[in-house]
Amino acid sequence: MESDIVLREIEDLSKRTFLPIIRPAMAKHLVDTVRRFSVKNVLEVGTLIGYSAILMAEHLPQDGRIVSIEINPNSARLAKENVRKAGLADKFELHIGDALTVIPGIKDKFDMVFLDATKDEYLKYLKLSENKLERGGVVFADNVKMSAHEMRDYLDYVRNSGRYKSEYIDVGFDGVEISTKLF
Ligand SMILES: C[S@@+](CC[C@H](N)C(=O)[O-])C[C@H]1O[C@@H](n2cnc3c(N)ncnc32)[C@H](O)[C@@H]1O
Repeated sequence: MESDIVLREIEDLSKRTFLPIIRPAMAKHLVDTVRRFSVKNVLEVGTLIGYSAILMAEHLPQDGRIVSIEINPNSARLAKENVRKAGLADKFELHIGDALTVIPGIKDKFDMVFLDATKDEYLKYLKLSENKLERGGVVFADNVKMSAHEMRDYLDYVRNSGRYKSEYIDVGFDGVEISTKLF
């Protein structure tokens, strides 16, 4: 598949330069989540150069879509190019800007939100996108072990507010939090 070639290219690049793409142990859970919840529409916060978007898009149905937000215009340009090369442009809509100002303007509804941008802003991203997430929809948060100190408020909210059923998955050096919206 074209998309697998592009994924391998990005993985190779990440070995040569600093490129904080989702790590394989967490990427496996990301793909599992897309499949387990039969996800169709994803809101991604933190595109970088499109690696996780391509991973998810590969597992969406034909009419599935990822709306992704990236603050860095250079990364966004590369993401667009990578997704096009992967043959997945039809499933990808990119917003360039700060998620904190972009999310309120997005009108779509989603059944998954993927949080992977500034770690101490996760709760703000979630609060802004919560009304766009369907009941029963899922929030996948990356790096919740490594950056736990920066997202205590986020973890407290999804674990203890009663608004989510939340599961932590430890992968050793890091972990992910998968939270299902209950309301
Ligand atoms: C860890 S990287 C994302 C990796 C990507 N999800 C992947 O696995 O391929 C985080 C990205 O979030 C972007 N970012 C950080 N704060 C942001 C914000 N407030 N709004 C939008 N993007 C942001 C950064 O520029 C960076 O590209």
